[in-house]
Amino acid sequence: MKALILSGGKGTRLRPITHTSAKQLLPVANKPILFYAIEAIRDSGIRDIGIIVGDTAEEVRNAVSDGRRFGVEVTYIQQDEPLGLAHAVLIARDFLKDEPFVMYLGDNLIKGGITGLVEQFKQQSPNSQILLAHVRNPSQFGVAELRDSQVVRLEEKPASPKSDLALVGVYMFDKNIHAAVRAIRPSKRGELEITDAIQWLIDNDLRVLPHIVTGWWKDTGRLEDMLEANRMMLDTYETDVRGDVDEHSRVEFKVVVEKGAVVRHSTIRGPAAIGSGAKIINSYIGPFTSISSDTQIINSEIEHSIILENCLIEDVGIKIEDSLVGRNAEVKRLNEKPRVYRLLLGDNSKVGLP
Ligand code: TTP
Repeated sequence: MKALILSGGKGTRLRPITHTSAKQLLPVANKPILFYAIEAIRDSGIRDIGIIVGDTAEEVRNAVSDGRRFGVEVTYIQQDEPLGLAHAVLIARDFLKDEPFVMYLGDNLIKGGITGLVEQFKQQSPNSQILLAHVRNPSQFGVAELRDSQVVRLEEKPASPKSDLALVGVYMFDKNIHAAVRAIRPSKRGELEITDAIQWLIDNDLRVLPHIVTGWWKDTGRLEDMLEANRMMLDTYETDVRGDVDEHSRVEFKVVVEKGAVVRHSTIRGPAAIGSGAKIINSYIGPFTSISSDTQIINSEIEHSIILENCLIEDVGIKIEDSLVGRNAEVKRLNEKPRVYRLLLGDNSKVGLP
């Protein structure tokens, strides 16, 4: 069995961060989302992984390399344009051959892993098996209709959903999916939709089974989702302080301080994670915050946020909350007259002022 991880796409909903970086490499609890997917696949016993890459191919290759450090073997498959999830399967034909495979969206997080799904697929040998979850707002998702424990219909964001079972970004297929992705036509938004390919399987009397997840999962496409994923993951960590925390600082509840981090005259109230080489000076880091490596927080307060690598946040007079700050960003008070805001922002940036 093989795996196909989708790590291309545009990531428009996470601009401006995705102008310069792959959304699948954004950290949740200081670990790239994509790494959780690779580990979940490896833990299910699959070693041979194809990764679909787009404009951010180089960054993904640099981060994952040949996969050896995860205990897997990675093959990169270049998608010149993000023409849809089924298009990704189409271009992965040579890699997948006729083997069954799991397809995993690289921006999805599934806390309980996928071992149960893979086991069920092996035991029942359907033509496809799709991961579903009960949701409160099904009309915002792809929704599955079940009859006699089989999937009989899929609908993309239906106005009147037939069930509350939403498609989660993990699917299993046998070789029949290749005929399906060749048979379907692009949707109104110009993409080859995986829901249409699965519907093609159903319409051709092939067996599509549901696998319902009961644990937590998240599609991290938007800022709110990233912050929620970060909250959820940080909460699973136990306190582990390996960095240098001085006696004037307080570290309370589930806090990870990596080796090489420095904390001085500060309070860190977990769940929180501080990356290696970070410096927290005279500051407050509140619950559900991840500070990536080499970032400096000086005389400032931050809560419920993700701050990426090598940032400087200094002398900010008001608490920073609900924020995602990209690499090498600087937010600092200017001790000059007149008092002004001085901004150098990327396209699509958002700044909330008190
Ligand atoms: P989406 O979140 O549906 O699309 P996107 O990443 O382009 O984001 P946005 O809607 O904000 O513009 O994609 C789900 C996952 O699949 C994500 O990891 C990107 C990946 N993907 C591909 O690799 N190729 C594709 O053609 C598409 C559409 C997505």
